[in-house]
Amino acid sequence: MTATLATASYVGATILFILSLGGLSNPESSRRGNLYGMIGMTIAVLATVSGPQVTSAGYAWIIGAMVLGGSIGLYASRVVRMTQMPELVALMHSLVGLAAMLVGFANYIDPAASAEFSGAAKSIHEMEIYIGILIGAVTFTGSVIAFGKLSGKIGGKTLLLPGRHWMNLAGLLIVIWFGREFLHAESIDAGMMPLIVMTVIALLFGIHMVMAIGGADMPVVISMLNSYSGWAAAATGFMLSNDLLIVVGALVGSSGAILSYIMCRAMNRNFISVIAGGFGSEGGAPAPAGGVQPAGEVNPILAAETAELLRESKNVIIVPGYGMAVAQAQHTVYEITKVLREKGVNVRFGIHPVAGRMPGHMNVLLAEAKVPYDIVLEMDELNEDFPNTDVAMIIGANDIVNPAAEEDPSSPIAGMPVLQVWKAKTSIVMKRSMATGYAGVDNPLFYKENNRMLFGDAKKMLDEVLVALKSA
Ligand code: TAP
Repeated sequence: MTATLATASYVGATILFILSLGGLSNPESSRRGNLYGMIGMTIAVLATVSGPQVTSAGYAWIIGAMVLGGSIGLYASRVVRMTQMPELVALMHSLVGLAAMLVGFANYIDPAASAEFSGAAKSIHEMEIYIGILIGAVTFTGSVIAFGKLSGKIGGKTLLLPGRHWMNLAGLLIVIWFGREFLHAESIDAGMMPLIVMTVIALLFGIHMVMAIGGADMPVVISMLNSYSGWAAAATGFMLSNDLLIVVGALVGSSGAILSYIMCRAMNRNFISVIAGGFGSEGGAPAPAGGVQPAGEVNPILAAETAELLRESKNVIIVPGYGMAVAQAQHTVYEITKVLREKGVNVRFGIHPVAGRMPGHMNVLLAEAKVPYDIVLEMDELNEDFPNTDVAMIIGANDIVNPAAEEDPSSPIAGMPVLQVWKAKTSIVMKRSMATGYAGVDNPLFYKENNRMLFGDAKKMLDEVLVALKSA
């Protein structure tokens, strides 16, 4: 492929990626967005593989790697459950970071790559390598720890080392100092030592940063690591002089940064302290180890009684959470919604920005069950309506409806805006036990006078509610 054709392909792929991002911002156009992304990526891979920098001897390696990577991807997409998606994404971010790190080292020790540059261009190229490895290493270990936390392999509790901010500052100063050493190194051998020291510090920083984050603040970390992985890819693009990788990396990096900002606002957290790492622990006491003991009496309710209450309501708000995803109850939820709407009940869904385990988790599930978009509303759009609501039905949600976030300044989730379900005439919480949610904190909602607990698996309970509704 000629260089002009390659450039034209790259421009085409870039436009498709931008259209893809635009499409993904709305549930109705998201399928089209995905399609644009897939076509763009196919063009990008084909243009790169048939580009001038790939020799015929390299094809066997490339095809082998594509078959291996493609098979793992195909297998993962078949076996990974929807609820495990965030872990998978975290794992993929770690691979982007690892790739950026390895490309950086390979580029530095490749005599052909370094021979291309001299004078100021050489310094700039070395700076790209240094920064690329730095971002890659932080992304790599940070994402591995995020994977561990999301999959429950590492406890969700925060690890707060004494003087951690000073440690981070010292690490930063050492990285800057060794950066100077690296740029002034006379030979590749001499530059290797500062490069390795910086890499080790960056790897440790990634671990330290994510280990220090706990409670309900992981969503922000995930989108932040998403952003880091974009910048790592952009840095790789600079090292390899690949324009497309620079543009795509910058797109991922900036959209991840915007998402992090939106998440921070939704969680009422400070963006700067998130970037610095180790946030989300000063505001409140960490969740006690070994779970929390229930702090009062609760009023249980049966499925038939729930159906009765729903049938007699004028306004119902359904609040889905992580448990709905686990139970795969979204289809039954919609069946119930249809029956109630036919009876003239005004049913709406209230979506918290961090409900579930990934951004948009609930929207995806409800869209899959074909719930119309116009009755699916954001938290801010209907929080004021709870006092005029007869029943707020909470399906497998916990942290996002916890009044302690508003009422208890010492709570680990203090300050996080929540859906004010307790203001409804009656709230019904559907979950299996008194267990806590992701943040590991007790929920005073359960003990409120106007709250009822419908204990059991969300799917099973909703099936019973549906039968009771239909039989009346
Ligand atoms: P959670 O607070 O985690 O609560 C989910 C509840 O679902 C649990 O208390 C659990 O109680 C119940 N549950 C589990 N399986 C169930 C089943 N089969 N049937 C019925 N109930 C079931 O979820 P949430 O309210 O959606 O809040 C999300 C939390 O995750 C927040 O703390 C958020 O910060 C965090 N988080 C979010 C994200 C993103 S980006 N959305 C990413 C990482 C972390 P039982 O065990 O008693 O059934």
